[in-house]
Amino acid sequence: MKSQYIINLSRITLVFIMLFLFPISAYSELSVEEIIKGRQAIFSKNYKTAKRVQALSSKGDFDKAKNLMLEMSENYKSLIKYFPDNTKEGFGTEALPSIWENKDEFNNLMTKASNNMIKLSEVIDQTDNVQGAIKSLMWSNCKACHSKFREEH
Ligand code: HEC
Repeated sequence: MKSQYIINLSRITLVFIMLFLFPISAYSELSVEEIIKGRQAIFSKNYKTAKRVQALSSKGDFDKAKNLMLEMSENYKSLIKYFPDNTKEGFGTEALPSIWENKDEFNNLMTKASNNMIKLSEVIDQTDNVQGAIKSLMWSNCKACHSKFREEH
């Protein structure tokens, strides 16, 4: 009876360990190419979305603009995982080595860009300077990061 109980318990434990490990191993199975192309696709999408945010806000269509701001915020958060050590070069990456030499600073800029999009969604319909808010809370973050962490293109 007792040994049966222990076997069941260790089976359950094993299942939990596997459930815990699975997302990590599934992620690490992405190839270097998939990770680099994946992050480039997210940046490209954010660029398109940023232009729509600008256009919608300029028209005063704040509800639609806010949804897109929050989408960009999430994208920035997910981008933090797209810079593992084995993706420093290849596949046309424009990422500079300075990213991995200053990982905390890079991640902080990404988090700041994400938080600023949330802040932008909160102030956009409250401010009398829509363009100024978009510039300081959205576009300035692109530049701050690219000037140090992305190759000239
Ligand atoms: C915290 C850093 C950071 C922020 C913030 C950031 N970027 Fe980037 N961006 C990068 C890096 C690094 C790359 C290079 C990625 C690669 O090639 O592997 C990049 C690449 C790009 C690319 C090229 C993607 C491709 O297809 O190769 C575009 C477009 C882009 N960013 C637009 C933007 C825009 C627009 C913003 C702001 C709304 C922004 N980025 C904010 C770091 C950042």
